Amino acid sequence: MKTSKIALVTGGSRGIGKNIALSLAQKGIQVVLTYHSNQAEAQATVAEIEALGQKAVALPLNVADSSSFGAFSQQVIAALQTGFDIDRFDFLINNAGTSLSAPIAETTEAQTDTPAMREFVASITALGRVGLPDDVGGVVAFLCSEEAKWVNGQRIEVTGGMNL
Ligand SMILES: NC(=O)c1ccc[n+]([C@@H]2O[C@H](COP(=O)([O-])OP(=O)(O)OC[C@H]3O[C@@H](n4cnc5c(N)ncnc54)[C@H](OP(=O)(O)O)[C@@H]3O)[C@@H](O)[C@H]2O)c1
Repeated sequence: MKTSKIALVTGGSRGIGKNIALSLAQKGIQVVLTYHSNQAEAQATVAEIEALGQKAVALPLNVADSSSFGAFSQQVIAALQTGFDIDRFDFLINNAGTSLSAPIAETTEAQTDTPAMREFVASITALGRVGLPDDVGGVVAFLCSEEAKWVNGQRIEVTGGMNL
C-alpha cells in the first residue's frame, strides 16, 4: 500500500502557509502545520485539510524563540506518532518569518513598516505587486509532488520577477 507523504509547514495556519498547506493536501500530502498565537485559525485550517481527505495537526511554534526549538521538535515527534503512527516527515516548508530583499546599507526604517515594505517590494517586482498566497502554494505543492522528482538542489524564486 502506498503511504501518504507528510509535510511540516511552519506558519501554515493562515496566509501563504495556509495556501501551501491546502495545496499540499490537494496533492494527497498530509500536513503538520504550525501557528504562533491564533490556535482557532489553525484548527480551522486543519478542518479544511481534513475536508480534502488528508490528515492534519496544528502545533504552536515561535520561530523568534530558538530556545523553544528543542521542545518543539519533541512535540513534532509526538504528533507524528499519535496522529500519523510514523516517526518521520518528508518535507519541511520553512515558511514562517519575515523577509526583505534589500542590501542592509540601503534598508530604511520605513521598510520595516508593513505598508511601506509592500510598496517597496511591488516597486522592485516585474509583475508590479507583492505576492499573494495563491501565487505560492501551488508551486510548493508541485515541488513536493512526483512530477518534480528530478528538480533537485535548486534555488527557485517565486517572486513575480523581483529584481529582474
Ligand atoms: N506576503 C508576501 O508578499 C511575502 C513576500 C516575500 C516573502 N514572504 C514570506 O512568506 C512567509 C509567509 O508570509 P505571510 O504574509 O503569509 O506571513 P504572516 O501573515 O505574517 O504569517 C502567517 C503565519 O505565520 C505565523 N507566525 C507569525 N509570527 C510567527 C512567529 N514568530 N513564529 C512562528 N510563526 C509565526 C502565523 O501564526 P498566527 O496567526 O498564529 O500568529 C501564521 O501561521 C513569511 O516568511 C514572509 O516573510 C511573504
